[in-house]
Amino acid sequence: MQKLLAWVDDRFPLTKMWEEHLSKYYAPKNFNFWYFFGSLALLVLVIQIISGIFLTMHYKPDGATAFASVEYIMRDVPYGWLIRYIHSTGATAFFVVVYLHMFRGLMYGSYKQPRELIWLFGMFIYLVLMAEAFMGYLLPWGQMSYWGAQVIISLFGALPIIGDPLTLWIRGDYVVSDATLNRFFALHVIALPIVLLGLVVAHILALHEVGSNNPDGVEIKKNKDANGIPVDGIPFHPYYTVKDILGVVVFLIFFCVVLFFMPEGGGYMLEHANFIPSDPLKTPEHIAPVWYFTPFYAILRAVPDKLFGVIAMGAAIVVLFLLPWIDQCKVKSIRYRSVIYKANLAAFVVAFLVLGWLGMEPATPGKTLAAQFFSLVYFGFFAVLYVTSKNEQTKPVPERVTK
Ligand code: HEM
Repeated sequence: MQKLLAWVDDRFPLTKMWEEHLSKYYAPKNFNFWYFFGSLALLVLVIQIISGIFLTMHYKPDGATAFASVEYIMRDVPYGWLIRYIHSTGATAFFVVVYLHMFRGLMYGSYKQPRELIWLFGMFIYLVLMAEAFMGYLLPWGQMSYWGAQVIISLFGALPIIGDPLTLWIRGDYVVSDATLNRFFALHVIALPIVLLGLVVAHILALHEVGSNNPDGVEIKKNKDANGIPVDGIPFHPYYTVKDILGVVVFLIFFCVVLFFMPEGGGYMLEHANFIPSDPLKTPEHIAPVWYFTPFYAILRAVPDKLFGVIAMGAAIVVLFLLPWIDQCKVKSIRYRSVIYKANLAAFVVAFLVLGWLGMEPATPGKTLAAQFFSLVYFGFFAVLYVTSKNEQTKPVPERVTK
């Protein structure tokens, strides 16, 4: 084995990469619960790719046969139901994990210098993930697939001048049709996954260049021993490879409970209307996107004007990209930040959750008013952060990591 390894190492940097990214990558020793979600996001990515490959073996991207091919997978293909539910539950799991992963970034200031690029790559991952999920949802070709796509694509029509030609270009037809299904299939199964994988590699390379942040927000590279090893660092392998296995096991327990006992997620993961084949002549009574898009959908509906609604929805995402420059506080971790920051972040989380709920509900005047209020709280988080972060009253940050 040693000889074989030496032979490979002479031709390919195998041991070098293993050491650089695992056995000699020193991670802070105080990672907590919130640090499980990066590796879990990687796990879900792999689950989605593998289950997706098997689904593609039986799925037919054709307006006349798509819906029936999904039913065929569910009823006739051996374990087809399992593969499909793994993939649909995986989509929800992906967003749960990624939202928690992003929230960790907010709590510990992981987007701040020198980790701005990790954050930006993360935000591009998030955008591509949303596009990936949106296009995947068209493929079962049920009523909600069809009408959800119709509503979302028509939003681009609100843009001045380019609006109409742009929607036509996206759909490839005057309405959502076979042409749309074909191109969404191509993008969903090959184009976007390639981009996603590339971004994830860039995300992790950027992380390993600067090193991980931690719950104390202390830079461990500032305290090195005589051998140049951070005193508060431990090798990622075996310490965190083993610790992450715990996260994986607990995650898989939750995943299996949903997968085997509530795969439709009460209509929130697979909506009821999507068990009816798509019908261009019959609009469902209530069209709502899947839960992970609903906070942004609520912001869109909160604005009476369609164009300004689309702009507000876009701004709600763009503003997240700018976070490293909006937050000017030198202290990273929430542990040592002011009460204002803590309250502001709590308000943001509440606003995001309430908007998520409002986006699933049919619009009533009262709910629209609530959506307007919570949209203001959402954007208010960034405004308050920008104004208060520069001269924030922070607590002293310890020299070394604590626990
Ligand atoms: C497919 C999706 C993603 C994968 C596979 C992924 C993977 C990872 C991994 C493995 C880590 C290191 C472990 C950890 O710190 O938890 C990490 C760190 C990080 N990720 Fe992601 N990530 C994804 C999406 C995102 C998104 C959407 C954002 C934010 C917009 C983001 C922001 C960050 C930041 C700021 C760090 C550094 C955290 C720190 O050192 O405290 N990631 N990511």
